[in-house]
Amino acid sequence: MIELAPSILSADFARLGEQVSAAALGGGTVIHVDIMDGHFVPNLTLGPPVVKSLRKTTDLPLDCHLMIENPDQYIPEFAAAGANWISVHQEVCPHLNRTLHLIKSHDCQAGVVINPATPVETLSEVLDIVDYVLVMSVNPGFGAQKFIPGTLTKVRRLVDLRAEKGFDYRIEIDGGVALDTVAEVVRAGAEILVAGNAVFGHGDPKINAAQLLKAAVEATLLKV
Ligand code: DX5
Ligand code: ZN
Repeated sequence: MIELAPSILSADFARLGEQVSAAALGGGTVIHVDIMDGHFVPNLTLGPPVVKSLRKTTDLPLDCHLMIENPDQYIPEFAAAGANWISVHQEVCPHLNRTLHLIKSHDCQAGVVINPATPVETLSEVLDIVDYVLVMSVNPGFGAQKFIPGTLTKVRRLVDLRAEKGFDYRIEIDGGVALDTVAEVVRAGAEILVAGNAVFGHGDPKINAAQLLKAAVEATLLKV
């Protein structure tokens, strides 16, 4: 099943509740929340108080993508603020197994993220415990960047590994997903589509989300 996860990074933060509702009306079923610390990535965004406010405005799952160093220190706070899914970057977690179990211990879905330059093989020892794998299709830090097509090889690899080994993670993709890239993304096997600029960057988020989801579903139907 394909799910659209609108990323609030490109939303109008002064009208966040309203924008999230519009994206949900357009078919978004997960709200993607980008947390950046100015160290792991060269940008700053938001923290648990904003997640707490968002929690009051939507019943949809909040997917917190932690682009921060030392995520263990903040996972309990994000979970308490209302995060439902929490993902951490492989590149900053020397004790990845422990970190993923920490997320699960707070009753959140646990995800692991890989940057464009990080191979799928670095996840071989955790693929049996993660709920989802997030493949970055841009270098993290900013919205509205250009999609990196080579990252789809990793999505295909994750599809194959799941079938071969009987894993049950879902595959999420993040960065540059838009009307001109969504078909190849879905055909590669991505199931949770993060989209920021394509949903919130212009016009009406409800219409944008609906169009993107429609294009994604059509691409799935053509896959066979
Ligand atoms: C980038 C973030 C993304 C970002 C995607 O570091 O992780 O979630 O919002 O934005 P678009 O869809 O505009 O590429
Ligand atoms: Zn993200």
